[in-house]
Amino acid sequence: MRKISLEKCQENMKLAKTIFTDDGRILLSAGIALKRSFIERLKLCNLSEVYIDDEFSTDIEINDVVDERTRNEAKLLVKSVMEEYKVTQRFDADRVKSVVNRIIDELLYTRDIMVNLTDIKSSDDYTFSHSVNVCILSLITGIKLGLNQLRLKDLGIGALMHDIGKTLIPKEILNKASKLTNEEFEQIKKHTILGHEILKTNRDISITSAHVAIAHHERYDGSGYPLGTKGDNIHQFARIVAIADVYDALSSDRVYRKKMKPHEVLEYMLTAGEVLFDRNILEHFVRSIAIYSIGTSVVLNTGERGIVVDVNRTFPTRPIVRVVIDAGGKRLASFNEIDLTKRLNVFIEDTCDI
Ligand SMILES: [Fe+2]
Repeated sequence: MRKISLEKCQENMKLAKTIFTDDGRILLSAGIALKRSFIERLKLCNLSEVYIDDEFSTDIEINDVVDERTRNEAKLLVKSVMEEYKVTQRFDADRVKSVVNRIIDELLYTRDIMVNLTDIKSSDDYTFSHSVNVCILSLITGIKLGLNQLRLKDLGIGALMHDIGKTLIPKEILNKASKLTNEEFEQIKKHTILGHEILKTNRDISITSAHVAIAHHERYDGSGYPLGTKGDNIHQFARIVAIADVYDALSSDRVYRKKMKPHEVLEYMLTAGEVLFDRNILEHFVRSIAIYSIGTSVVLNTGERGIVVDVNRTFPTRPIVRVVIDAGGKRLASFNEIDLTKRLNVFIEDTCDI
């Protein structure tokens, strides 16, 4: 399978991954041929891309580090916890713990695999899928840093619930497409303090998990909020979640901006990382993420176009690429795979749509 933008999606293309609605129901099942009306419907759901199977990609397998069902369940859980809190001012921490435990088990089981995030997010359910991605990315970083199971659990719960304070911020401000006024931004900043309040009053949530909510927007150089805490005075969990949070936010479409391309996100993280993030944690993070995930279409400096079929653990920017279109724009009859760690004069120039 491979990833394709909805713009490029054509009638009768075969959907390779099931698409779920915000509330966990199946919208379109894997295997169906996409009709024009289906494609239009997906656009209405604010999706920008889908996975398809075609002659270039039927043999390309993509395994997410976390099972699709677990991911979907976690998303629904975040949603229901936020809704439950709004109505009853409490939430059931046991359900959160059990889903985090499952994610940890699955990650530990596949620990040597480089993360290939395959979540297709709509900008509508952003907060929920973002929370799950931040949880997964934080846990992978935690595993790389050698945290024990007990700490991983606290980290995972804090990461999954890091934005719970947003429940108490008006939706119109959170989803505002235009620039926020200073007042509105001040209000958004409060989700950190509010989230901390919500988590710390639940006796089943540890203090360290709750702390992630208040400190995940602090920055290593002291430029963050709400307190402006600096360096190692910021708790390690919050330093991890800060990186995962920014990475996933930049890689996602939002109501007010389009997502950045994978290499732009990496470049930003590494340059900003000098001052904003904990350098050591950032290095562990970058090493575990597939910058060009399997199934992504790329254009090489040779002018050829292809699909990423596998990643190289030590060189995240140099995956294995199956060239399917030559430099003249002609579709090739037989495909040629290039391992970019072995052909150093060839490199990825950009992502593209094929
Ligand atoms: Fe946040």
